[in-house]
Amino acid sequence: AIVEKGNYRHFMAKEIHEQPEVISHTLASLVDMTSETVRLPSLPFDWKNLSRLTISACGTASFAGQVAKYWFERYARLPVEVDIASEFRYREAPLEKGGLSLFVSQSGETADTMAALRYCQENGQHTLAVVNVPTSTMSREADAMVRTLAGPEIGVASTKAFTCQLAVLACLAIGAGKARGTLTPEAEKELVRALIEAPRLMAEALRLDHEIEACARDLSKAKDVLYLGRGTSFPLALEGALKLKEISYIHAEGYAAGELKHGPIALIDESMPVVVIAPFDAIFEKTVSNMQEVAARGGRIILITDEEGAKAAALPGAKTIVMPAMPSVVSPLVYSVPIQLLAYHTAVLIGADVDQPRNLAKSVTVE
Ligand code: G6P
Repeated sequence: AIVEKGNYRHFMAKEIHEQPEVISHTLASLVDMTSETVRLPSLPFDWKNLSRLTISACGTASFAGQVAKYWFERYARLPVEVDIASEFRYREAPLEKGGLSLFVSQSGETADTMAALRYCQENGQHTLAVVNVPTSTMSREADAMVRTLAGPEIGVASTKAFTCQLAVLACLAIGAGKARGTLTPEAEKELVRALIEAPRLMAEALRLDHEIEACARDLSKAKDVLYLGRGTSFPLALEGALKLKEISYIHAEGYAAGELKHGPIALIDESMPVVVIAPFDAIFEKTVSNMQEVAARGGRIILITDEEGAKAAALPGAKTIVMPAMPSVVSPLVYSVPIQLLAYHTAVLIGADVDQPRNLAKSVTVE
């Protein structure tokens, strides 16, 4: 089928705006809306018997894997190792027989991720792939597959495939927690109820487009941008920086907020915008104190938070994007929206080719 841009200027804009819909579809395939429980397809292994989960992926998909680490460890008490596939495949990592390896990929064709999968199969692992293209090599070769229902993604910079990966991984982590007895039925319900709010919350976030575009004006003049976050907002900071680099060619780095003082703080001055991703959650205060360190050195802050967070942060100089309040399990999905829009508008302002950035390919099938 031919995919059209419709009324959008770029595929990327269309794909960003499609997210409430495709997240709905993806969640509907994995949760039972009436009983508010997850309903995973039958999988050829038992979550109860696992002592470790190994996740491998490349690029944006690897950041989805990094978010999932927090979820699997929190909800299923399952230790997780996340690795970039190009590193994992050559490291000859020792793997316990009967362990579970999970692969995340939009295309299902990425050469390094495929090699990691084959390595795991040769080493007695169960393999599970989270893939968007159901006819791909990875879907065929993995023992089991769970689909992201993002539909075809044309923009080279991944957007809706990423948030659909997050939706699937959240469901897997909840399902694992349920199977391992680390989540009570009430806790499961609460998480599922939160997840099914994601499409509505994402639609609300999309309405902040104009405010985000105003912040992008600031970014479009910068040479370097720093993204900070803690907890699941840390991989999101990495993803935000990657998106900006990919499509606007502005140098950006994502950092764990707590690591700021161990290096990047030396870079802070008036010329470097710092994007802080900080929903008002259990670790909010910690991120705010890192933000104050930035402010004290004249750094220009763009804070993405909610109303409570904006009040508590009370930073006069900061530009604030005020998101709706939400349970923390959905924040990585919903906060992806402003992160993507920031990169998108910055690239458009610069006049870059948003859908086909130089030197990049949609799917990297050679090493
Ligand atoms: C390429 C794309 C990225 C993508 C990465 C992994 O570099 O430009 O957007 O995140 O490959 O691709 P996959 O299809 O495995 O998710």
